Amino acid sequence: MKIVRTVADLRATLAPWRRDKTLALVPTMGALHKGHVALFDAARLAADVVVASIFINPSQFGDARDFSLYPRDEDRDTQIAETSGVDVVFAPSADELYPPAYGTWVAVDGAATGLEGEFRPGHFRGVATICLKLFNCVAPHLVFFGQKDAQQVAVIRQVVRDLNLTLDVRVVPIVRDVDGLALSSRNLRLSAEERTRALAIPRALQAALSAYRERRDPVEAALEVLNGLHVDYVSIADFDGQPTLAIAARVGTTRLIDNVVLTPKTSPARSSS
Ligand code: PAJ
Repeated sequence: MKIVRTVADLRATLAPWRRDKTLALVPTMGALHKGHVALFDAARLAADVVVASIFINPSQFGDARDFSLYPRDEDRDTQIAETSGVDVVFAPSADELYPPAYGTWVAVDGAATGLEGEFRPGHFRGVATICLKLFNCVAPHLVFFGQKDAQQVAVIRQVVRDLNLTLDVRVVPIVRDVDGLALSSRNLRLSAEERTRALAIPRALQAALSAYRERRDPVEAALEVLNGLHVDYVSIADFDGQPTLAIAARVGTTRLIDNVVLTPKTSPARSSS
């Protein structure tokens, strides 16, 4: 596995493969866990060459404290990437991607409005900008994102559509811990007691899904279970035609997001005679 730090080195590294290989990009901010590994696995299955970017993008953090507290451990991350079959890690400095005279931003309406867009002003502008830059640096055929950040997927799809990018966006299901909590780099910040309280979030998603299937109000069902947490929102959004119940809640000082796609109960297969 090769680790590259500059856009020039990245382009030179990928050039020989570009002619006859399928390239996949998995953008990450490091602090890698099994959720990221699921993206690497999916990318490896679908493409010949897997590029992972590890870059804690300052422009998507509204809060300087949140940015400075973001976990950083490059040695551990590169080890995980290597054992997951990543071919190239792109780990640039902030200056490499945002040099002093930097001044171009991607402003997304539509999918970026409401939910995270409301509670984290400027967040999706930062995400859309860095993702477009990474897409331009790597020029991949396929890009992989996690359903964990469902609105982020909708924003990326909108950027790809609106700006006529020739990319195939692939989405990987949410990876959860055995107790149901969605894996997230932010879980590292939870105390044992906070982690127990955070389990109300996956329970609330289950309650919402059951309510939806029984034609009760999913939002109300989720809120009942979340009672006691500081809820930013519980909301049903239509992400690219998929009704999705999304939750953002704070446990202590840690803000967690999670979601479930509201699907009708699948009826048992009928045997044809
Ligand atoms: P990061 O939070 O590191 O996540 C990188 C990718 O991993 C995202 O697509 C995210 O949805 C996915 N992911 C995280 N936890 C997951 C889980 N439990 N199950 C499945 N997928 C999971 O998202 C970002 O970084 C940044 O916004 C980025 C796109 C890299 C732009 O800076």
